[in-house]
Amino acid sequence: MQFLKSYWWIGLIMIIVVAAAIILIPSDLGKYNGPGSKISGTEWIIPDMNRLPATPEGDLIRYGKALVSNTAFYLGPKGTVAHITNGMNCQNCHLDAGIRLYGNNYSAVASTYPKFRARSGTIETIFKRVNDCIERSLNGTALDSNSREMKAIYAYICWLGTNVPKNVKPIGTGIAEITLPQDAADPVAGKLIFSAKCSKCHAADGSGLFNADSSGYTYPPLWGIHSFTTGAGLYRLSRFAGYVKFNMPFDKDLTKDTLTSEEAWNVAAFVNSQPRPDKRFAGDWPDVSSKPFDYPFGPYKDSFSEQQHKYGPWTAMLKQR
Ligand code: HEC
Ligand code: HEC
Repeated sequence: MQFLKSYWWIGLIMIIVVAAAIILIPSDLGKYNGPGSKISGTEWIIPDMNRLPATPEGDLIRYGKALVSNTAFYLGPKGTVAHITNGMNCQNCHLDAGIRLYGNNYSAVASTYPKFRARSGTIETIFKRVNDCIERSLNGTALDSNSREMKAIYAYICWLGTNVPKNVKPIGTGIAEITLPQDAADPVAGKLIFSAKCSKCHAADGSGLFNADSSGYTYPPLWGIHSFTTGAGLYRLSRFAGYVKFNMPFDKDLTKDTLTSEEAWNVAAFVNSQPRPDKRFAGDWPDVSSKPFDYPFGPYKDSFSEQQHKYGPWTAMLKQR
């Protein structure tokens, strides 16, 4: 008893240390704010393609990577397997076959799916999510989950998540969130940025440059009939701006920001005010209150217009959420 009495303070210190740890360790572990962000989290250990075994499973994963990098070669308008997509490659938006940090990578797919997604209002599998991009971003026809192509893409994406524990989102996953502008994003200012920083590759009319051998785009289209549809993620300004801010111009120094957030929002507003394939999905956002602030098609639970949801200003809107 004498012993317990003189050492009670050790217990007290332990309680204080644990309480301090709970308070001080940030609850946003694993979130990101772009390259160089101070927020810590799990680093993604990308598995090594060169160490894939020469087995049927290894071959399937290699085929999956090839499909992601050269989608048009297999599935595009003159594809060798089928003609079910618009000529873009998954890699045009999921850079380096889906492994680049902040380049819309696949690090958290295997660890977080199946999961509930508000857009469909259902629990979605990886197959469903891949087909979402095929139908919306590639303006295509869904792949059968039993096809060798879907099995390969699935195997590749799962293998990329090999070192990521369940429910963990490594640093740099997906598309970064960037600072919201106070004012509405401005397509007129965005057009100037497009001419100065984008058109030399994506062409003045946004149509990009298709390879002479039809194997895909050297520079993918930003709008027009061969580009992503109005049902695609990049049609939302926040997705487009977050993607572009950290990845474009494509030849930029990746350790430096070449676009300010404001420029990224404005160029997003310009590009997404140009014509593109209109594709709406009747079942989208069954609960209208779950629509993202920048989703450009009503009805909404608030009274802001489609125009304001699309281009902002968003600050007043977000205060009501
Ligand atoms: C035009 C651009 C574009 C193309 C092309 C594209 N995607 Fe996507 N993809 C996106 C965007 C945008 C998201 C949503 C990212 C976000 O909101 O963080 C996304 C999300 C995904 C996700 C879910 C990622 C996650 O972490 O939840 C998967 C899986 C995916 N795409 C697979 C594919 C595959 C496979 C292809 C090719 C068949 C493809 N995508 C082509 C733009 C594209
Ligand atoms: C040096 C050439 C170059 C410049 C300049 C450039 N891009 Fe790109 N962009 C590319 C390439 C190449 C890809 C596809 C990357 C891949 O497949 O690996 C791409 C992909 C994209 C994509 C996703 C695919 C699509 O077509 O929708 C968007 C969006 C995009 N760029 C927007 C922009 C914007 C906005 C600018 C100007 C701020 C810009 N790019 C400047 C070369 C460029």
